[in-house]
Amino acid sequence: MNLHKEMLYTAKDGTLVLLRYPLEKDSMQLMSVINELIDEHAPIGANKKVNRKQEEEYVRNAIKEIKEKKRIQFLAEIDKKIVANIGINRLYGKSAHVGELGIFIKKLYRDKGIGEFMIRQALKYAHKEGIKIVKLSVFANNNRAIHLYKKLGFKKVGLLKDALKDKGRYFDEIIMVKYLGF
Ligand SMILES: CC(C)(COP(=O)(O)OP(=O)(O)OC[C@H]1O[C@@H](n2cnc3c(N)ncnc32)[C@H](O)[C@@H]1OP(=O)(O)O)[C@@H](O)C(=O)NCCC(=O)NCCS
Repeated sequence: MNLHKEMLYTAKDGTLVLLRYPLEKDSMQLMSVINELIDEHAPIGANKKVNRKQEEEYVRNAIKEIKEKKRIQFLAEIDKKIVANIGINRLYGKSAHVGELGIFIKKLYRDKGIGEFMIRQALKYAHKEGIKIVKLSVFANNNRAIHLYKKLGFKKVGLLKDALKDKGRYFDEIIMVKYLGF
């Protein structure tokens, strides 16, 4: 794996997007992106803001796991600013051929095709690294994400009623899966 590899994408509105592996120096920017999504009550699993120490630890661990082939992770950068993150985390033991996908993009940069590009690239790398099944969990009312996942070949395999809670309200969780090929 080449940790310095970079991929370029021209978004639907012409913006140039750079996809690359995370580096230790990214932790502060990444922290502000994730905390922005928490403030927004974006439909992601996390609900607590992170501090500098936690984010530095997260990035250090992410880099270690990428090197150990336990995860695929890319950041998207526009004009040298981090705007998005995608990860496919390999499960362990008898499920080590299964990965779990998570993605988030800063509000201003959604609906430009960046998510589609990031997921396609991450799936390609996951397949190369021997991940055969990718699963994910999504808020049942996250229509944008569900549309995109279906477009990329994910199928709904389950629904956990009221498994997610935000602002005191319960939401159903949908589980989706894509088989990358054995
Ligand atoms: C979900 C997310 C990753 C998608 O990435 P993105 O770059 O915004 O998505 P893209 O532009 O690649 O594709 C969005 C697609 O959804 C469609 N879409 C947008 N809003 C929609 C809606 N309300 N209902 C249905 N489809 C919708 C767009 O038209 C586009 O489809 P198309 O290419 O077929 O026209 C991103 O919006 C995001 O980070 N959202 C907040 C956090 C989140 O939801 N993370 C996922 C947790 S499971």
